[in-house]
Amino acid sequence: MSAEEKLDQLAKEISTCEKCALHESRKKSVPGDGPANAEIMFIGEGPGFHENEQGHPFVGAAGKFLDQLLSQANVTRADVFIANVVKCRPPGNRDPLPEELSACDEYLEAQINAINPSIIVTLGRFSMGKFIPDVKISAVHGQMRKVGERYVIPMFHPAAALHQPLLKPAILGDFSKLPDQLNEAREAMGKPKIVFKKKEENVDDKPQQLNMF
Ligand code: URA
Ligand code: SF4
Repeated sequence: MSAEEKLDQLAKEISTCEKCALHESRKKSVPGDGPANAEIMFIGEGPGFHENEQGHPFVGAAGKFLDQLLSQANVTRADVFIANVVKCRPPGNRDPLPEELSACDEYLEAQINAINPSIIVTLGRFSMGKFIPDVKISAVHGQMRKVGERYVIPMFHPAAALHQPLLKPAILGDFSKLPDQLNEAREAMGKPKIVFKKKEENVDDKPQQLNMF
């Protein structure tokens, strides 16, 4: 089965999943979006109000900010896969419970294995906790580390950065380091470097485009 077929099959399973209590109140499950061969996989927390309505990740206010952050890294949504640690909305946007996280982890693991991204970016503490337990996000954000066979970069959650202005420059700075970190990870894995193509000089001050896909 191709990675794409695997992701489609997982999305189907998720849409009828009843492995935890979150299925009772969900409108639409949110399996995640993106190409099966994405180099970068983002893992957020869980669907909010708008995501539950639409079935897609990061479509609300945090999603708008995420788009801005992606442009700091010279990528767009079409280049990256975006998933969450829980695929159904916790009522009232409460934190996901340990039993919900563990029930849903099987899907996330299967997605990671199908996509096999060069780097994983965790957004927020629940996603970070899956890979890097017992650290403070304020101490480690933006720093790439190897966890098992995976390269993981913990970052602040975009919603947190939206509401705490002091975090905004930090998360913007962290995203701008992503292209270099991606190449660092690729080099360590023996993959060729991705070439950055500069846009024409006279096109105002748009960021460089990443010539990778
Ligand atoms: N916040 C998340 O963590 N995930 C989403 O999909 C939307 C908001
Ligand atoms: Fe199933 Fe995950 Fe939804 Fe729980 S959150 S019902 S485990 S898909």
